[in-house]
Amino acid sequence: MNAPETRTAPPEPHVMKTYGRLPVALSHGRGCWLWDTEGRKYLDGLGGIAVNTLGHGHTRLVPALQEQIAKLIHSSNYYHVPLQEQLAAKLCELSGLTNVFFCSTGLEANEAALKIARKFGHDQGIERPEIVVYEKSFHGRSIATLSATGNPKVQAGFGPLVEGFVRVPLNDVAALDSVAASNPNVVAVFLEVIQGEGGVNPATVEYLQAVRRICDERGWLLMLDEVQCGMGRTGKWFAHQWAGILPGVMPLAKGLGSGVPVGAVVCGPRAANVFAPGNHGTTFGGNPLAMRAGVETIRIMEEDGLLQNAATVGAALRAGLERELAGVDGVVEIRGQGLMLGIELARNCGELLGRAAQAGLMLSVTADRVVRLVPPLILSADEAAQIVAILAPLIKTFLAEAQP
Ligand SMILES: Cc1ncc(COP(=O)(O)O)c(C=O)c1O
Repeated sequence: MNAPETRTAPPEPHVMKTYGRLPVALSHGRGCWLWDTEGRKYLDGLGGIAVNTLGHGHTRLVPALQEQIAKLIHSSNYYHVPLQEQLAAKLCELSGLTNVFFCSTGLEANEAALKIARKFGHDQGIERPEIVVYEKSFHGRSIATLSATGNPKVQAGFGPLVEGFVRVPLNDVAALDSVAASNPNVVAVFLEVIQGEGGVNPATVEYLQAVRRICDERGWLLMLDEVQCGMGRTGKWFAHQWAGILPGVMPLAKGLGSGVPVGAVVCGPRAANVFAPGNHGTTFGGNPLAMRAGVETIRIMEEDGLLQNAATVGAALRAGLERELAGVDGVVEIRGQGLMLGIELARNCGELLGRAAQAGLMLSVTADRVVRLVPPLILSADEAAQIVAILAPLIKTFLAEAQP
């Protein structure tokens, strides 16, 4: 790759310092490649954190969005938005669920899901409804969603937290059974099928099926946060479909609009009518531009077989990483599914973010020691091989430095 050793951060005196940024400013992209303002080229293993489903500058998405922008960007939920019905019908067809509420981000979708769960409880006369949530989970950074999140770092400084959550470890059926036995106020279980920010931790098929069964027995809502792992990333439209189960509520966002902000809460019959007119809303939710982005993203994914691509290229990427990192001291585990992969190392590896960028690769490090790859779903086998060729030596060098 053509990245030099040193870079200077662009000055940003007016943007709030909420992110630790690399000294890189991106200018444009094409497919799975990005260029910065100084002309350096990067292979995109990050996809804007699981957002750019169709990569950058897609030759069919861009003209469709341009046409939509010229026609109508935003109207208002005072009126019907026909594209909402079109995208909702498609999401229902793909998920087997029945109704959709649209918003703009992942936390908003989760916030709506939490409100649905609480009202679902109140409608049954439960005055202090509680929701089961998970250790190491991430659901967003609003006060309610950070309270649901299982990461003390995300919560620190923002107390008092919202109450009404019971926390359990992932993949531990006994822990959920014990909540069921002791807490009559529980109304819902809320989990990511593959925890993303928590370190790419998959819920097992057996666990998901057990949660489905317990929810059925108790009359609880099963709410699956597919904001990161959904929209084809694992090789099925939604990650829970690998377990052959149906959720009652499924928040989506990230990849749904291929970069245009779109969030959605897809509901089954028990949750679909919990909100009455006036109970919930958001100005930007379901605007024509966002809806068109969702419709076209799904259309192109279907036309180009991107679920299959995510499965096969994801498997090749994983196999390449497993081959190159086999037996390397300090590589704890390679896990995930399709194009959502995590490589857990034995020590904190945040600095790999910058080193990878220096080497021309975008990726992320999450939960301190997990290198995460969530590239566009258009990634080719050749590009997957290039990711391996850049990343494996970086990881090996990094781990070798730590040896005594
Ligand atoms: C599983 C999950 N839920 C919710 C969110 C929050 O989404 P947003 O950043 O769009 O609010 C994220 C973001 O990383 C996520 O991974």
